Amino acid sequence: MGAMSTYRIGVIGLGQRIAHVLAAMKEVGWDLDLAAYVDPAPVGAPILAAAQIPLGRQCADPAELLARGRYDLLMLGAPNHLHLEHLLVALEAGAPIFAEKPIVRTEAETQVLARRLARAGTPPVHVGLVMRSLPIVREVVRRVRAGDLGEVVSLDATEHLPPEHGGYLARNWRRRQAWGGSYLLDKVVHDFDIFGVLAGARAARVASFGGRRIFTPERGDGPRAYEDGSAAYALRDAGWAAANDAFQSDMDVTDHQVAMVEYENEVRLSFHANSHVGLGERRWYVAGTEGTLIADLVRNRLMARRALFRGKPERIDYGGVTADAHNGADQEMARDLLAALEGRAAFPVTPYESMEAGLTVMAIDQAMETRQVVECGPMWARYDAACSGAEDRLAEEVL
Ligand SMILES: NC(=O)c1ccc[n+]([C@@H]2O[C@H](COP(=O)([O-])OP(=O)(O)OC[C@H]3O[C@@H](n4cnc5c(N)ncnc54)[C@H](O)[C@@H]3O)[C@@H](O)[C@H]2O)c1
Repeated sequence: MGAMSTYRIGVIGLGQRIAHVLAAMKEVGWDLDLAAYVDPAPVGAPILAAAQIPLGRQCADPAELLARGRYDLLMLGAPNHLHLEHLLVALEAGAPIFAEKPIVRTEAETQVLARRLARAGTPPVHVGLVMRSLPIVREVVRRVRAGDLGEVVSLDATEHLPPEHGGYLARNWRRRQAWGGSYLLDKVVHDFDIFGVLAGARAARVASFGGRRIFTPERGDGPRAYEDGSAAYALRDAGWAAANDAFQSDMDVTDHQVAMVEYENEVRLSFHANSHVGLGERRWYVAGTEGTLIADLVRNRLMARRALFRGKPERIDYGGVTADAHNGADQEMARDLLAALEGRAAFPVTPYESMEAGLTVMAIDQAMETRQVVECGPMWARYDAACSGAEDRLAEEVL
């Protein structure tokens, strides 16, 4: 397709996320026609209205959507438990696919998808691991790959969310494992994707502890307002299958969790996530044999210094900090997607890297549930067998 063509787009799951991505695509100059969508109650409609993108025709199900003509791009953005089903249908249509992360929700689903992707003639699948498109992340990856830090020895990382965000997660579909997978799978699969790149290897073994100590009924009588009197835990419409109250919901995922990973090449990582903090943070600390780097993803700042250097650290401020906490990543990803569809550049992340990041987080959750160190080797062996197209009993049980 040439740069001037109109992209005819079909969407399955028109929530906040796909609406934001479509708005970013329009903003960076895509010529797009949202021709049709499947969504019983599109949460993203107000976002599209604000971006002046007409909704297109509502279809009852993916079969009707696909029957209504050919698409240049299919975009999948339903809750996570529907991703595999939607991917399997969309892959049959043959058009390029943009699918939201986590690409699938369980190991069994990963095996089904890996086997499906191994078939000849599979259309391209671009996954919304949007951090891959962020300039600060690209620079971190570039420096690590170029050996600027020497060999990477160890990493620590955090993602701490303010109470409004945590309260949203406790009310939205992400609160249930059956829909979202887990807190870490939905929220930090982005980070574990990049950690795998920085480590330069797969996870060999993982440990994790976590639970629910914040959004519990026992804390439901706690303060519900900020110091200025404005209401807390109330700001966002929690969308599809929402619960009314962050403290009185049927949440079964964690609201805080820690994890440790030892990679196959002996790079070691610790990670800490909390969904109700006064000091928000998303920070990666990368320690190499010759240098150290801190990426502050909230403030969009990079700091680096060689170990044997006593002068001031190098600081790069990427600016462009935005209220949505994405700091311009959506627009960068929209450019990357267009470049991929036009054949100018490969998309920054493959579906295989997406599945591997997901499996790493799933192993971490298994370690948390069993309170055991999980050896990842058998999981990778099952995954590699699935990628090579081999039959697998686990996969057959899932559908
Ligand atoms: N890459 C990112 O930074 C990022 C950010 C947010 C969300 N996401 C991902 O995007 C996806 C959607 O998240 P969201 O925040 O937009 O959620 P959302 O709740 O805003 O939207 C989900 C939409 O799916 C619709 N839906 C429910 N059942 C459906 C069905 N059977 N068929 C079609 N549509 C159906 C809902 O009506 C809703 O409109 C998730 O996979 C999430 O992990 C990614």
